[in-house]
Parts: sequence; C-alpha cells; structure tokens
Amino acid sequence: MPSQQLKSLVDSVAPLFAGEAEVFRTYWTWSGRTNETDRLWLLRQARKEVWDTPLGDQRGLYLGPAEDLIADFPKIDIEIPREEILERMEGLYEEFSHYCAYADAYDVVRGEGEPRLSPTRLKEVPDWAENLAIRDRRAEIKKQYGTAGERACYFTEGGYCTLFSEGMKLAGNGGVDDLIAKAAALVYEDEFGHMCKGIIGLDAEDMSGADWDLMTELSVELAGMRIDMRNVQFSFPLSAERVAAIKAGDIEPVVFDFEKVEAA
Ligand SMILES: [Fe+2]
Ligand SMILES: [Fe+2]
Repeated sequence: MPSQQLKSLVDSVAPLFAGEAEVFRTYWTWSGRTNETDRLWLLRQARKEVWDTPLGDQRGLYLGPAEDLIADFPKIDIEIPREEILERMEGLYEEFSHYCAYADAYDVVRGEGEPRLSPTRLKEVPDWAENLAIRDRRAEIKKQYGTAGERACYFTEGGYCTLFSEGMKLAGNGGVDDLIAKAAALVYEDEFGHMCKGIIGLDAEDMSGADWDLMTELSVELAGMRIDMRNVQFSFPLSAERVAAIKAGDIEPVVFDFEKVEAA
C-alpha cells in the first residue's frame, strides 16, 4: 500500500501527466498533422533519446554513462559494487535501444536523399527552448536540492510514459502510425521502470515531511514544463488556453498504477 505522502505526490502530478497525454492524443487525429510535423517530432524524439538525461547531464544518455563506466573501472568491487555497474550498463543499453527505435521510425519517413540519422547529426538538430529549459532546470535541481530533487527528476523522467502508452494505441492503423506504435511498445516498459526509480523505496526511506513537500513541488514544476515541451515538439496541437486550463486542473488525471510500480 502506498503511503499517504506518496498518494498525495501522485495526486498532485497525475493531472499534469494527463495533460501531456492529451498533447499526443490530440495530435494523432489533429488537422494540423502532416508528414512534415511527423518528421519533426520523430527527429526531436530521437534527439531526446540520445541527449536528454533525467538529471540534465549535458553529455547525454550514451556518452555520459559510457565515460563514467570507463572512469569507474578501477573502483569496481572496491568502492562501487558490481551490481551497480551492471545496472548502469543495462541502463545504457536500454537508452541506446530507444534511440534506435525512434531513429528507425524516422529513417523510414525521412526526406528523399536524406542520410540516415546519427547521434552526431542529432546533436546538430536545433533544440527547442522549452526542451532546453527542462534540461537546465533538471541540472539546477540536482545541484540544489539533493536526494528529494533527484527523485523528482527521475519520477518525472518520462511523464508517466504517456508518449509510449498513447503511441502504442496507433498499432494497426498502417503506415507511419504502425512505426510509431512499434517504437512506443519497445520503449514503454523500460521507461516505466526508469520512472519507478524516483519512487521505489521512497516509503521505506526516511524522507521528512519537508522532503516530501519539496519533491512534490519540484515534480509538479517539471511535469508542467513537460506539457509545454511536448506541445512545441508536436507543433502546437493544444492551444495556449487549453494548456493553461490543464495546468489549472481542468482535466481528468491519469490513473496511477500503484501495483505496476510495486511490481517493478
Ligand atoms: Fe529512453
Ligand atoms: Fe529512461
């Protein structure tokens, strides 16, 4: 059973996770959706899968962990237990497979004569201001707020995986929708696990009331920023008024699956 504090954290963030889901759900059948907007969001998603980290590490999801693993080699089983190293290698494998999933989808719909995607090319893909703002804020939170801050970063890492759960619903539509659904299915379980990193063991650990408040406040802030980031990534399927209404609570919250979290 989740504690009262965990329930209250989830209650605060669940409407914002639903807001992020609404961006995708609206986009799939939106009149503004074109091949061009599909290419743009897939490109940006592939970029995120290489370069955007939960704690704002500018080295990205591949290079950062790989460099750290090499640097930590002499410390294995002296300062750092082997299990932790293995877990980090698994994380690296998973995140790289997410890049592969979205890059594969993008490469099918890419422009004629356009070369295949690569992490190097993606580094040159212009980041959008709302995405950059989250990365910088995550780095700041990690620096300023210690464990409660880090937990908020992990907890909001994938926005309750709604891009993947909503994307999976496109399966069977054919064409690009099937590619999107395939990528989403590949990523969904992994990212659910990554989100759990923010909340697993939370009830057992001694987080003070102030820590819970801080984690909740930071999670709400990050989850709200995610809606703007996604709305821009998908070429504004939601109006500014609708985004404001969501943030003000005019939405049915996502139903949080505590059992799935506990099983993770
Ligand atoms: Fe990922
Ligand atoms: Fe992840």
